[in-house]
Amino acid sequence: MDRRILSSPMDFDPDHIPVLHAEVLELLAPRAGETLIDCTAGLGGHAGAIAARLGPSGRVVLFDLDPNNLRRAEARVRAALNPADPASARVDAVRANFVQAPAWADRHGVRADMLLADLGFASTQVDDPERGLSFRKPGPLDMRLDPDAPISAAELVNTLPERELGDLIARFGEERHARRIAAKLAAERREAPITTTDRLASIVRSVVPRTPGSIDGATRTFQALRIATNDEIGALEALLGSIERVTTRPTGEQGWLVPGARVGIISFHSLEDRPVKRAFTALTQSGHAEPVTRRPVVPTEDEQRRNPRSRSAKLRVIRLVGGDAGATD
Ligand SMILES: C[S@@+](CC[C@H](N)C(=O)[O-])C[C@H]1O[C@@H](n2cnc3c(N)ncnc32)[C@H](O)[C@@H]1O
Repeated sequence: MDRRILSSPMDFDPDHIPVLHAEVLELLAPRAGETLIDCTAGLGGHAGAIAARLGPSGRVVLFDLDPNNLRRAEARVRAALNPADPASARVDAVRANFVQAPAWADRHGVRADMLLADLGFASTQVDDPERGLSFRKPGPLDMRLDPDAPISAAELVNTLPERELGDLIARFGEERHARRIAAKLAAERREAPITTTDRLASIVRSVVPRTPGSIDGATRTFQALRIATNDEIGALEALLGSIERVTTRPTGEQGWLVPGARVGIISFHSLEDRPVKRAFTALTQSGHAEPVTRRPVVPTEDEQRRNPRSRSAKLRVIRLVGGDAGATD
């Protein structure tokens, strides 16, 4: 591994401050020598700040679907974990869906003290028109967070039967006009395949009534297609299921999260927050976890002003308890 490359400031943006940065640090409360699994490495903002607290004896495992983000996050985390010798820092960068985190950890004998998931997409992805995630810039209708994933948004829009397309937009976009949008898309794609973000946006806007002061008419449809293209809710549910299963192992059997592990999830819309709330409440009520946050933590007004994308963020944190939970205190 080339140290000069990994520790080069050009490899990551040192000014990138992630959503709820201070709150994540305070609530996950990293301690020297602990292990973090960051399910959504992104630009390594959260993981880098946590790594700085873990020090050279700490360990960080990064997951991301996006190889470019993963590379940047790895550079940042290595430099933070062991500034004197980034190449020897204990960092694993895993290009995979976080659904695979429990199996990966089991295979590598890793037991995490902290688990973090900051859901959705990173600024590098939404700001790049080639990724097709935004209706603000023309680009190919792609939307894949994993550039090698088999199905793009264009394939969904052009091949799903009209009824399924309407169901998808209603479910993942919580869009009242889903049926009308699906009918219009079905008519338009008969003329020519819908392959660009700007064409999709203008078709959707043409059937969504405009209300002054409300969000862009294409917002909900874009959200729905992005969630479906990346199976975002399926992945989140699988991750939550894996956290719940850790707590039901027979006493004495080791899981991928230690008793006492802090688990933090940042969601950006109710489709994400609802399952997180449900799973965390179930774990708390069954006595397998303690709430670290009783209500979701949201960005301060100042953060919302500085970073408008943070406006919808909600952070929930629990602390797992279990057979030998007291041993970690
Ligand atoms: C909001 S960003 C994370 C930002 C990060 N916390 C930081 O501090 O820079 C979300 C990242 O998660 C990745 N991602 C989204 N869903 C994923 C999944 N199911 N598995 C792995 N990575 C995922 C995206 O590619 C993106 O890079």
